[in-house]
Amino acid sequence: MNAQFCLWYNHTMNKYINEQIRSFLEEPDMIAALANVSAVIAQNYDRLNWSGFYFVKNGELILGPFQGKVACVHIPFDKGVCGKCYRDAAVQCIDDVLAFPGHIACDSASRSELCVPIIVNGTVVGEIDLDSPEKERFGEDEVREMMQAAADIADAWQKHHWPN
Ligand code: SME
Repeated sequence: MNAQFCLWYNHTMNKYINEQIRSFLEEPDMIAALANVSAVIAQNYDRLNWSGFYFVKNGELILGPFQGKVACVHIPFDKGVCGKCYRDAAVQCIDDVLAFPGHIACDSASRSELCVPIIVNGTVVGEIDLDSPEKERFGEDEVREMMQAAADIADAWQKHHWPN
């Protein structure tokens, strides 16, 4: 496989990740749909050790469906990369989690992290969270694709009347 083919193939895979995610968001059951979305991300992105969700509930972030090792169930809004994503309602693309003050290490292998808010009617209702054992794993492509995924999840949220 030559380098040009690799580039083309990776581009093609990435091009389809959002279409795959949208197809799983047709499922009205929130847990079923988002369990598959976490799997789609894990299958499409290499060098990940965790992909999943946190949702806002009772004044904190609570673990949702995911792929990877067991993770913290409760994250206060003032803690970690996930807390900052919530407070700022903004994407956190952390090249080196060891240099991020307050990073919560669910898996000591994690080295970089991408956290994207899911915003419904101007309110953060949850987050997509990805971890990698490689420093600087996440770049423009992953940020763009996960922001699109978060927007599609926000649409599904309203369409399917989640979180009920
Ligand atoms: N690293 C996150 C905690 C969640 S795990 O990565 C799954 C944080 O610092 O908020």
